[in-house]
Amino acid sequence: MSMKSQWQIIEEQLDELVQASRRHAAFGAVPRYIPELASAPAEALGITICDLEGRTVSSGDCGLSFTMQSISKVFTLLLALMDNGEDGVFARVGMEPSGDDFNSMLKLELVEPGKPFNPLINAGAIAVTALIHGDTPEAKSARIAAFFRTLAGGSDLTCNESVYLSEKRTAHRNRSLAYFLMDNDVLDPSTDVEELLDVYFRHCAIEATCADLARMALVLASGGIDPDSGAQLVPRRYVQIAKTFMSSCGMYNASGEFAIQAGIPAKSGVAGGILALVPGRYGIGVIGPALNRKGNSTAGVHLLERLSQAHEWSMF
Ligand code: DON
Repeated sequence: MSMKSQWQIIEEQLDELVQASRRHAAFGAVPRYIPELASAPAEALGITICDLEGRTVSSGDCGLSFTMQSISKVFTLLLALMDNGEDGVFARVGMEPSGDDFNSMLKLELVEPGKPFNPLINAGAIAVTALIHGDTPEAKSARIAAFFRTLAGGSDLTCNESVYLSEKRTAHRNRSLAYFLMDNDVLDPSTDVEELLDVYFRHCAIEATCADLARMALVLASGGIDPDSGAQLVPRRYVQIAKTFMSSCGMYNASGEFAIQAGIPAKSGVAGGILALVPGRYGIGVIGPALNRKGNSTAGVHLLERLSQAHEWSMF
């Protein structure tokens, strides 16, 4: 009798796992602070997994498109590192989990110097977006989108204009965070905050599918190498930095629990997406729009924890 490969088992069991995890959507709710996100199907759950041999498996509502939101912050961090080097980036943003909500301003005033704790909370991501090279906000947004498309294997990722506008109209907290950062000298005094936030909102509103996230994650899983061409798209060291932040801060102040339950690098977004990876093996994209109080997809987290436990993916 021949042994089944892990891939075969994943293919056989994925539908059943998705069905079981879908029930957990009922414990969450779609976010309302960005009005346009509130119309997403709360009960949906979809997943795509791809591997380095070119195989792909999908299940559930994997046809949905959704905005990347905070998942984009992993990739703007990579681009900022490529543009400025480690010293340039970490002069403006720290390396530690904050333990606070993703949009919290608490520690910016409590801790000296008032530098954001890490690049994945909103304050840190806004500081990172300010470091992306480009002569105009449009040029910066175009560079970011082109970089995302390259990592997604040439997929035509574009900004969802209505989600972008919806956030732009209502983002008073992000505006306050940006002005706070300017006061703390994390942003240069010459920064035009509205222009900076425009670049930030636009990369958060880049629309993708589970397959796109899985393909982008696969580049991280392979240490920055394009799985099709073999080209080194991102220096290995920067991918290592991004994966470390995903492990320690990717699920915000639920990152410790996720590390214990799943033990793989992952990054969530407030539209319900999660990008995850198994180093050297798989890229994973998940969508489940209903979120828990910490801003992570309830069904998506459950599904990743179940998958990781079933296949012993934990790195720890
Ligand atoms: O800035 C914001 O609030 C959103 N554009 C992104 C936040 C987010 O995705 C938090 N994730 N769970």
